[in-house]
Amino acid sequence: MLRIEDLTKSFGPNVAVDAANITVAKPAMIGIIGRSGAGKSTLLRMLNCLTEATSGRIQFEDQEITALKGSDKRRWQSECAMIFQQFNLVPRLDVVSNVLHGTLNQRSTLATMFNLFPTSDIHRAIDILDRLGIAEHGPKRAEALSGGQQQRVAIARALMQDPKIILADEPIASLDPMNAQVVMQSLRSIHEEDGRTVIANLHTLDTARRFCDRVIGMRDGRVVFDGTPEQLTTGAARDIYGADDSFSEEATSTQIETLGRTEANEIVA
Ligand SMILES: Nc1ncnc2c1ncn2[C@@H]1O[C@H](COP(=O)(O)OP(=O)(O)OP(=O)(O)O)[C@@H](O)[C@H]1O
Ligand SMILES: [Mg+2]
Repeated sequence: MLRIEDLTKSFGPNVAVDAANITVAKPAMIGIIGRSGAGKSTLLRMLNCLTEATSGRIQFEDQEITALKGSDKRRWQSECAMIFQQFNLVPRLDVVSNVLHGTLNQRSTLATMFNLFPTSDIHRAIDILDRLGIAEHGPKRAEALSGGQQQRVAIARALMQDPKIILADEPIASLDPMNAQVVMQSLRSIHEEDGRTVIANLHTLDTARRFCDRVIGMRDGRVVFDGTPEQLTTGAARDIYGADDSFSEEATSTQIETLGRTEANEIVA
């Protein structure tokens, strides 16, 4: 059980996340949508303790995440792995080593310095790559892979941590539509087969609708929608994206879909 209560983050006078309340009672696949600046990344960063909350609480099972410090905080950070738009791999390092870096939190400094990984970890890394359909690329440098393949390496690295939650900040914003589908499908199967919660910030409504069981809409730091893809009507989408009221239902639907895509394109540019 993950419970986010009145979670707020302010940067000076700017309230990036404004008293967010979200409860995840059982493992779920959740998409967070909203315009640029709505607070999506800030929310994920607070979940992962990369950003400290200004007020409010995050509770996971019996732990208060917002109060964690030192080694407890690092342990939590490995229990809720983060995936980024730009993959954040070590480009010149081979794929298997990149995946093995997912175990860094659990290893001694000396072992890390000499790149010493237990054989069992190496086998596990290869199994995870195999599951994601990219085991044959294991020996290659990460930079030699396509964007979609690199994002799957990043997912493999996250899985090495055996996380309870996977947080993905715009995981497909840099990918072409076909690679985007493969990456979303990988995240979906990790949720379905392993029972892990996946929370992904997404820029397009259609992706959120297609791959997620639950969609959370943010606007100006506030959670303005929380429901199933079926409940995400054109009117609800308009509330989230703030589309012009003068548009007809049909026009607004197209406009909002386009808005989502345009924002994704702007981020890539
Ligand atoms: N480190 C920071 N310092 C100051 N302001 C910040 C910082 N990080 C985020 N903000 C501000 O907080 C608000 C929310 O930003 P956030 O990055 O969470 O939005 P987002 O929904 O992820 O947007 P995008 O879709 O563009 O990634 C924005 O107004 C942003 O300028
Ligand atoms: Mg963001």
